[in-house]
Amino acid sequence: MDALRIEGGYPLRGTAHVSPAKNAVLPLMAAALLAPGESRLSRVPNLADVRTLSKLLGHLGARIAREGSSLRIDAADPAGREAPYDLVKTMRASVLVLGPLVARFGQARVSLPGGCAIGARPINLHLKGLEAMGAEVRLEHGYVDVRADRLQGARLVLDLVTVTGTENLVMAAALAKGTTVIENAAREPEVVDLIECLNSMGARIQGAGTAFLEIQGVDALRPYDYEPIPDRIEAGTLLVAAALCGGELKVEGARINHLDALVQKLREAGAEVEDDGGRGAWARGRPPARSVDARTSPYPGFPTDMQAQFMALMALGRGLSVVTETIFENRFMHVSELNRMGADIQAEGARAVVRGVRRLSGARVMATDLRASAALVLAGLAAEGTTVVSRVYHLDRGYESLETKLNGVGAKIERIKE
Ligand code: EPZ
Repeated sequence: MDALRIEGGYPLRGTAHVSPAKNAVLPLMAAALLAPGESRLSRVPNLADVRTLSKLLGHLGARIAREGSSLRIDAADPAGREAPYDLVKTMRASVLVLGPLVARFGQARVSLPGGCAIGARPINLHLKGLEAMGAEVRLEHGYVDVRADRLQGARLVLDLVTVTGTENLVMAAALAKGTTVIENAAREPEVVDLIECLNSMGARIQGAGTAFLEIQGVDALRPYDYEPIPDRIEAGTLLVAAALCGGELKVEGARINHLDALVQKLREAGAEVEDDGGRGAWARGRPPARSVDARTSPYPGFPTDMQAQFMALMALGRGLSVVTETIFENRFMHVSELNRMGADIQAEGARAVVRGVRRLSGARVMATDLRASAALVLAGLAAEGTTVVSRVYHLDRGYESLETKLNGVGAKIERIKE
């Protein structure tokens, strides 16, 4: 298994480029199932999760071809309707094929994703919405079987904000008969990106970016030719790296307006963060950071996917910071690993109290989930001595060679075999 060996203590200087967003690419790939013919998604990052979903789409009978950085997905007449356990268990986002399959073919059989490191992560709201649209949902042997001759438009009020739940239901409603309203919809930029792509396919969806979506179902959609938005979480991770290590960093391709809540927190913590003339974001870190509290919430609030990385910054803060995780019930797996590096963090329930320390010391630590592994890399950049982060397959799910980008701006990271 791969690990990353990090020599800490170097400031970051230069320009790092942001890849397209994993959490936009995955629903966009699933959306190709909605249209007969070949869709083309450009600038698709080379990520483990993209490879997993490509495998699943292939299993369903779509023809996938990589063409440079583009992905061609021909869903003219896929015969498969089942997303098997061995694929879904490795990536929860596989459930995104549910809406498209039921909407276009009237049937889908998807393995229940099961929990993961950060929480139970059920899909009850996805299923409740499909039922409200007339689908028959049956749970058996760990699979969910969903059937509908033709989905009917409905008024859906989501109990809580769910990103892939909103995405699944929007894709289902796009081909339903009649109009669907979704209240309490997710407002994430990745949801907006999906809606814009669906509208380019002939869908008729209004309200993107708001909690109130109106989808007028159409009889058919056409394939897309689309480019995903940049990855705001990768960009945020790089901005936190600059705040933590000091130095000056340009994050090329970042859309700073997708990161308002994080940028505000980084400024409160003493970093300078500005728009880089439309080309991306610019940050100057002045460690040690001021300790500030953070509380995750659905977009446009502070992103849960930035919580672990921000905690790494607060670990070296000048005072006391309270970090509250309101989205997932177990997203503090990085706390014990950060404490092994000399951090002083007490996690209790949804709250972690972070007492800033003067120094972190390099140690052997273990990644447990995608964003926790990013936090450990960041901590290693600022720690004294050598840090080895094991199980970096977690990192590779969502970052396209993060160490290459960081080494390009002065970090000292080596990928090793363990
Ligand atoms: C998406 O996951 C992202 N993944 C996650 O990013 C992100 O952390 C999350 O949204 C929150 O922003 C993708 O977009 C592929 P949710 P998703 O449904 O859609 C509960 C990363 O690091 N819930 O918005 O699975 C759920 O348990 C990943 O890139 C239900 O109870 O998250 C959670 O507590 C990690 N029932 C909360 O809602 C449901 O039917 C938010 O989950 C659905 C969700």
